[in-house]
Amino acid sequence: MPSDARRIITIDGPAGAGKTSVSRRAAGELGLAYLDTGAMFRAVALRLGQDGHRLAESDIDAALAAVVFSLDGSGADTRLLVDGKPLPDSARTEEVGAMASKLAVLPVVRARLKQAQQALGRTTDLLAEGRDMGTAVFPDAPCKFFLDASAEVRARRRVAQLAALGRPADYAAILAAISRRDDQDRNRAEAPLAAAPDARIIDTSAMTEDAVVAAIVAAARA
Ligand code: C5P
Repeated sequence: MPSDARRIITIDGPAGAGKTSVSRRAAGELGLAYLDTGAMFRAVALRLGQDGHRLAESDIDAALAAVVFSLDGSGADTRLLVDGKPLPDSARTEEVGAMASKLAVLPVVRARLKQAQQALGRTTDLLAEGRDMGTAVFPDAPCKFFLDASAEVRARRRVAQLAALGRPADYAAILAAISRRDDQDRNRAEAPLAAAPDARIIDTSAMTEDAVVAAIVAAARA
């Protein structure tokens, strides 16, 4: 094994499948740094603004080349820093998620973020969460998971998550937004949302968060 080979676990799945809280907790139990790659796409969305996906490819590339992503801390307390600063809570809204999803179809954005994600994976053992971690970014990771749940369950979870941030949200609007985002993420040409052939698929619809974390930790240790 090359000396810079790191232990990488990947967790992919659609919006609202419970990846973020489950991944953070599993990273804590397994003693790995946690990388939320959705937050990287959201950071890019905030950086480029509402119509960022319409900018010239060369402008997007230049803007992204200047962004420095780093990880601070470890386990469940790992923080993603963008140019040395944590992302604001406003990055977690469904509007920013939709902007991120529009940018995520662009090869120039995917290429820059893939490069940044792989670079982080060379610096530390990592639990990486996203849409294409097991398929495109870390295809050689020995342990991969794909979390899924029905769109209705995912919309209910997102409403609860936003409420916890003090942002009341309308269930029907969130369900429609999640379904649109799913469609866009699953059907894009480059690195579409999909389970890697060697990923363990976990349907979390009827599972508690504790049960999902326990299943991942047990499988990763085995
Ligand atoms: O996971 P999260 O909802 O924060 O991701 C926001 C958007 O970023 C997703 O809808 C998807 O379009 C994009 N994304 C991606 N690849 C990843 C992570 C996120 O395309 N690895």
